[in-house]
Amino acid sequence: MKILVINGPNLNMLGIREPDIYGRETYASLIEKILNHCKGKNLDIEFYQSNHEGDLVDKIQAAYGSADGIVINPGAYTHTSVAILDAVKAVSIPTVEVHISEVDKREEFRQISYIRLACVKTITGHGTDGYLEAIDFLEERFGK
Ligand code: DQA
Repeated sequence: MKILVINGPNLNMLGIREPDIYGRETYASLIEKILNHCKGKNLDIEFYQSNHEGDLVDKIQAAYGSADGIVINPGAYTHTSVAILDAVKAVSIPTVEVHISEVDKREEFRQISYIRLACVKTITGHGTDGYLEAIDFLEERFGK
């Protein structure tokens, strides 16, 4: 099973940005943590991070016909991007939305998620463990 793990804007700044909210783990250690978790599983994991909305749309479109699942933390684009929502709808790949923080208990604008409308599951507030839970969910539900 091929799973694409996509991170949106500012997630490359993990460990540096607002550590009280997002923790001290870096983006590189997040990747390492996911790879360790997936060791021995029959999974092919690809990582992608971009600060640009159109690049995220391009990556989701490129996954059509190749990825079996997507784990995505669209960062701030969660709350604004109809284009990313439409891209996920267009490719019809089972997608799990992940947020490190508990977005539904933060500012009102963070409580809106466009992409959620196209996702099979949403995980918020579990820190970076949320990515592992999302992968496990996709494997259990859609694995082959
Ligand atoms: C986030 C929450 C978003 O509101 C924020 O813009 C982020 C990270 C999270 O992982 O908690 O960049 O998606």
